[in-house]
Amino acid sequence: MDKVHLGTLAVHGAWAEEPANAPALLPLYQSAAWAFRDLDEVDAVYEGRLPGAVYVRSGTPNHQALEALLAALHGGEAALATASGMAAFTALFLAHLRPGARVVASRDLYGTTLGLLGDLVRFGVEVVVLDATQLPQVEAALTPGSLLLVETVSNPRMRVADLPALAALARARGALLVVDNTFATPYHARPLDLGADLVVESLTKFLSGHHQVLLGGVVGPRALLEPLRGVAVRAGLVPNPWECWLGAEGAKTLEVRLARASATALHLARFLAGHPKVRAVHYPGLPTHPDHAVASRVLRRGYGAMLAFELAADRQGINRFLRALRRIRLVLSLGGTETTLSHPATSSHRFLSPAEQEALGLHEGFLRLSVGIEDPEDLEGELQGALEAL
Ligand SMILES: Cc1ncc(COP(=O)(O)O)c(C=O)c1O
Repeated sequence: MDKVHLGTLAVHGAWAEEPANAPALLPLYQSAAWAFRDLDEVDAVYEGRLPGAVYVRSGTPNHQALEALLAALHGGEAALATASGMAAFTALFLAHLRPGARVVASRDLYGTTLGLLGDLVRFGVEVVVLDATQLPQVEAALTPGSLLLVETVSNPRMRVADLPALAALARARGALLVVDNTFATPYHARPLDLGADLVVESLTKFLSGHHQVLLGGVVGPRALLEPLRGVAVRAGLVPNPWECWLGAEGAKTLEVRLARASATALHLARFLAGHPKVRAVHYPGLPTHPDHAVASRVLRRGYGAMLAFELAADRQGINRFLRALRRIRLVLSLGGTETTLSHPATSSHRFLSPAEQEALGLHEGFLRLSVGIEDPEDLEGELQGALEAL
């Protein structure tokens, strides 16, 4: 080695040869900056003639790997990885909306998505919020060039969107159908196969599945996605390599996690529906759910790992129920390997007025369960014990 001083050694000493064989996992490329041998290599990487990266915001092999995975899972032509589910919507809105544009949104969307749509009004975007299970209302609201926004399975009442019917309406009106598939994941639904133009996922939930990342993605045809990619890179809506790496690792177990969790969810939904202290259960796999028939067409391999139930109890009663649980904790997210409960009235729907909460049927005794991969009998036993404490 040429003779250099300690300061130079400290900077350049930790370096290893490029391995001759491949590691079992895709390496984490945790480098914000990339080096080039010469200007020809710069041109070749920029132009896609050589694989490589320029700068972390415009993508690394970890971004590319996650995007390849998302596109494959959804059967889409291309995908964009984003820093969160909300960043995916931000990229979508920045790329596809302009003053005078119209968004037709389901009233059952995640509250923060509706909040973000509210922010767009300042930029001259018209937002129409309606009950997307009422197809004539949707048809009347759609205009050429508008965006129709629904969730496959909604929060907190697990309403299931009739995606083929909505896609047909959007197509007939020259609108784009965008589907948030976060509760269903590609395990239970592939909206692109059902006619959607773009699908959005929050990988923060089941898709990555371990409460470790904040991550999102959009999948669809390249022509629709390229404008989003440009905006996402310019606006810095992209994830970092570490989150891409973790997200892709978590997704490897998607099928085994959701096969187990959704079978358990059906078991628990039936158990809760038969319990005298439970007033109502909202699970699309139960014939009593208003969208059971739609869900049987739109969802595959079961009905998902999310359910909600109502107890006839006041705040003290709900607190007793929560404190009586040992492993099922109150966690204001969803989609982990652990079974968790949330309380929409004080969390996801906290900022709705009492009248708006009432319109959604929310009250103190309304609880939402995100089912994990524990043993179903243990979960039933724990819920049974806590119901006795009510
Ligand atoms: C249905 C749905 N869509 C989108 C999001 C937003 O995702 P993120 O938290 O990754 O921004 C959430 C988060 O709770 C959600 O539940």
